[in-house]
Amino acid sequence: MKERIKKLGVFTSGGDAPGMNAAIRAVVRTGIYYNMEVYGIMRGYEGMIDGDIVKLGARSVGNILQRGGTILKTARSKEFRTKEGRIKAFDNLKKNGIDALVAIGGDGTFTGLHYFSNEFDIPTVCLPGTIDNDIAGTDYTIGYDTATNTAVQAIDRIRDTALSHNRLFFIEVMGRHSGYIAINSGIAGGAGAIILPEEDMTFEDLFSLLEAGMETGKKSNLVVVAEGSKLGGANELAKKIAERSDYFDIKVTILGHQQRGGSPTYFDRVLASKMGVAAVEGLLDGNNSVMVGFKDNKIVYNAYDDVINKQHKIEDESMRIAKILSI
Ligand code: F6P
Repeated sequence: MKERIKKLGVFTSGGDAPGMNAAIRAVVRTGIYYNMEVYGIMRGYEGMIDGDIVKLGARSVGNILQRGGTILKTARSKEFRTKEGRIKAFDNLKKNGIDALVAIGGDGTFTGLHYFSNEFDIPTVCLPGTIDNDIAGTDYTIGYDTATNTAVQAIDRIRDTALSHNRLFFIEVMGRHSGYIAINSGIAGGAGAIILPEEDMTFEDLFSLLEAGMETGKKSNLVVVAEGSKLGGANELAKKIAERSDYFDIKVTILGHQQRGGSPTYFDRVLASKMGVAAVEGLLDGNNSVMVGFKDNKIVYNAYDDVINKQHKIEDESMRIAKILSI
């Protein structure tokens, strides 16, 4: 074991994700288990800059395992992108005696911490917390399973009404750059077409798919569109299809931020718990500037350089399956 960590800081940053609370709980309790004092930094980097830091005990994180959101709040900080902001943040950590950090967030969070750990002498470990599942170095991010289940539940409900009215629905799910929620909620929800940011589907391809469905007797259909689709969002696509043909009775549902909230699934709670323990034990073992990942059912530590700006790609096999099953 390397030099002992006495005071550990933990924070959440970027978009919230279900399971972040489970991760905070795991970090706090593991720190206390190893005789550290643990501090919660509020509102991510914003709270670090403002000195909004609170001491946490094992009981402060009681009854949060099952709750969505993040008790530490979160933000996307502009000021932390400046050197001045990072200096203020480090001064506040020093004032509180914090000598190691665990961050829970996505790519933007890691990029900030990468700068920070190059500029200042403080060990840092990140946990991937985002519903997008777009982070390299891990098969799953905290929150993705819950968000996808939320999307599937919504799609199932929409299917009921689509069937009753013989309607075509465009359902937009979250994912600015990543089609993970779309591909898997689309497969699980039996979508007739799935539009992903990663794929170069043309409008003609989409129209042919819908036409083929109609010709083979589909009375209703569901198209799942990822927010970052290059073909356009659900509203735009629905409008274009309506302009092309009056055969379809078209409706649009944007699932939006409901995918970010809600009680985490068992999978996200366990993932977050394992990653939280691994973050603190990793620090104690001398790991620094790494992101904890879960690959092939095992905890792994990835250097920031192997993670930042490197998208977790959707498996070709998932896209192949989706196509076969949507006929
Ligand atoms: O990164 C998570 C995510 O929910 C994306 O899927 C979405 O594009 C974005 O955040 C929305 O961000 P905000 O809540 O800041 O509008």
